[in-house]
Amino acid sequence: MESLKVGVIGTGFIGPVHVEAIRRLGHVEVTAIAGVDQASADRAAGELGIPKAYADYRELLEDTEIVAVHNCTPNHLHYKVNRDSILAGKHLLSEKPLALSSSETSELLHLAETRGIVHGVNFNYRQYPLVQHLRSLIRSGELGAVRLIRGNYLQDWLSEDTDYNWRIEPQFGGPLRAAADIGSHWLDLVQHITGQRITEVFADLATVLPVRKRPIDERLTFSQAQGTGGTENGKDNFERVKVETEDYATLLLHFNGGAVGTVTVSQVTPGRKNHLVCEIDCSNSSVYWSQEESEKVWIGHRNRANELLMADPLLLGKDVMDYIHYPGGHNQGWPDALTNMMRQFYREVIQREQKGNRTAESSRSSGEPGQFATFADGHRLQCVLEAVLDSHRTRRWAKVSYLS
Ligand SMILES: NC(=O)c1ccc[n+]([C@@H]2O[C@H](COP(=O)([O-])OP(=O)(O)OC[C@H]3O[C@@H](n4cnc5c(N)ncnc54)[C@H](O)[C@@H]3O)[C@@H](O)[C@H]2O)c1
Repeated sequence: MESLKVGVIGTGFIGPVHVEAIRRLGHVEVTAIAGVDQASADRAAGELGIPKAYADYRELLEDTEIVAVHNCTPNHLHYKVNRDSILAGKHLLSEKPLALSSSETSELLHLAETRGIVHGVNFNYRQYPLVQHLRSLIRSGELGAVRLIRGNYLQDWLSEDTDYNWRIEPQFGGPLRAAADIGSHWLDLVQHITGQRITEVFADLATVLPVRKRPIDERLTFSQAQGTGGTENGKDNFERVKVETEDYATLLLHFNGGAVGTVTVSQVTPGRKNHLVCEIDCSNSSVYWSQEESEKVWIGHRNRANELLMADPLLLGKDVMDYIHYPGGHNQGWPDALTNMMRQFYREVIQREQKGNRTAESSRSSGEPGQFATFADGHRLQCVLEAVLDSHRTRRWAKVSYLS
């Protein structure tokens, strides 16, 4: 089979991560990368061994050999880059968020469906083998009715006032930060596992560092600018800025299947690196899964001993085999989950390309439950985030209005 040729837009942290994950598939070739300018594109192309480097993503979209595009730019560019990519007829895997407002995400969803492209949003935490296993256990009814959905997503990379990044500024990251940047992963994950959708939220947000030291060199804002606000040659190399986005959020949640829940999200918790955990309490048993120890799941029972299940193809169902690629004890982790995301996405792209089928009907079938998050999921998540902001501002429960 001739390999598919694809392009990646964005050369920061996640762009090269996409390149690596795509390459692990074997039959998909990254032939082009676009950066913020020619120098950044050339540098990334050189380091990653990619044949073509474009100074402007629109040049990449004009490249007719490219069938699919990965949007790995900062949040404020997502709507425009996504819209242009769809109009250029490329299959599209967007980083989260899909866009920064539900009217934009709704438009992108309709446009993608009308053009018949395969569309995905990189909610990669769905793609761990034991996450899929939990989903299967709940779907089969083995755990009983889902009652309580609880958890945390905690990080520490913004816990000092010298830590700075574009995500802090609403014009680049959007009006929500912790709740959207990492909270959105948790919200997608638990809805994926339980099959229940969030209907109402009560949000309490806090900015625990109301003033931060922004590097005067703006380029550092668009790099991994941790602890950069110090002094250089005896002079301050930062300016103090007021922070408008939240470092912390606690959300109370109601789900359409009757479950209730809560999640705490923070980017200022020293020692917590990428601490995404969820606990789901069902009528027969409870389960606990932590992203940082993703090869284990705790299953709690009332009338018999609790279990600690280790990921092992011999112990998991057939529907999980597509997500686990090594024998038990040969641990998979974050990059492997991301590769699973690419595998699911490109399976759909190949099917669509082979059939030559670009109808709205074919697009709607993309991302059947259990595969990958689509623009429909990205849109629904944006509707939940808007309810979070509404609740925080009004200090009341806010219903999620799922704009269509
Ligand atoms: N799914 C995940 O687990 C995950 C993890 C990290 C980041 N992300 C998402 O990925 C996106 C990028 O995050 P990041 O951490 O890589 O940020 P980053 O700041 O490290 O990289 C962003 C890159 O985009 C480039 N860029 C800016 N404008 C551009 C343009 N017009 N054309 C091409 N490139 C342009 C910047 O130069 C920079 O290299 C964000 O939306 C973020 O939410 C997702």
